[in-house]
Amino acid sequence: MRGRFITFEGGEGSGKSTQAQLLARVLAEDGTDLILTREPGGSAGAEEIRKLIVEGEPGRWNVEAEMLLFMAARSDHIAKLILPALENGRWVICDRFIDSSVVYQGIVRGYGMGMVQHLNISMFSHALPDLTLVFDIDHEVGLARAKERGAGHMSRFDKFGPDFHARIRDAYREIAATDPNRCVVVDAGRGLKEIHDDVMNIVAKRFFR
Ligand code: TYD
Repeated sequence: MRGRFITFEGGEGSGKSTQAQLLARVLAEDGTDLILTREPGGSAGAEEIRKLIVEGEPGRWNVEAEMLLFMAARSDHIAKLILPALENGRWVICDRFIDSSVVYQGIVRGYGMGMVQHLNISMFSHALPDLTLVFDIDHEVGLARAKERGAGHMSRFDKFGPDFHARIRDAYREIAATDPNRCVVVDAGRGLKEIHDDVMNIVAKRFFR
């Protein structure tokens, strides 16, 4: 049987990466054969493309170039890592995936949500997630949390400013509302344990009951 594919989405400082790691650990301890991966990156080629994307000045790439770099990285990631794992019955947990492009390039950077969705679907319909957890947090709180990680961790995208982050939150909510069969919104303004319990319940309800 093909493995399950779960993606974690949300703005900066939403805690999704920590929660993805926690879920992966608990499922693995329970005997689920899985991989934990991330975008941009995940495969050797995609990690090289990641460096081009996240390093440097905010204006380094125009929107089209940036979007195509993300898509190129995703294509490699799917072909080399995600699909082989799913086809071998392994679960895949991925920190950011197609919705990050729809939000960041489509809505926030202005390429158009419909256009990015169209590209995602036409190229990656063979590797769409079974479940997407959308981490929803007040953008000011999220930004403050991201800053706590320290300036050394600030990526090109962390530097875009507060307006950018408010739009990210709205955009994610819009995606979740339009695709309720795949997406579940998680209130990320709570404590680690509460959020983890919520995530476990959502996953159990979807795949184990
Ligand atoms: P990263 O440091 O991985 O961010 P985070 O810890 O928040 O996941 O940096 C990746 C950045 O790339 C992040 O700001 C979101 C952005 N991004 C896009 O703009 N488009 C995409 O398709 C993806 C996958 C990420």
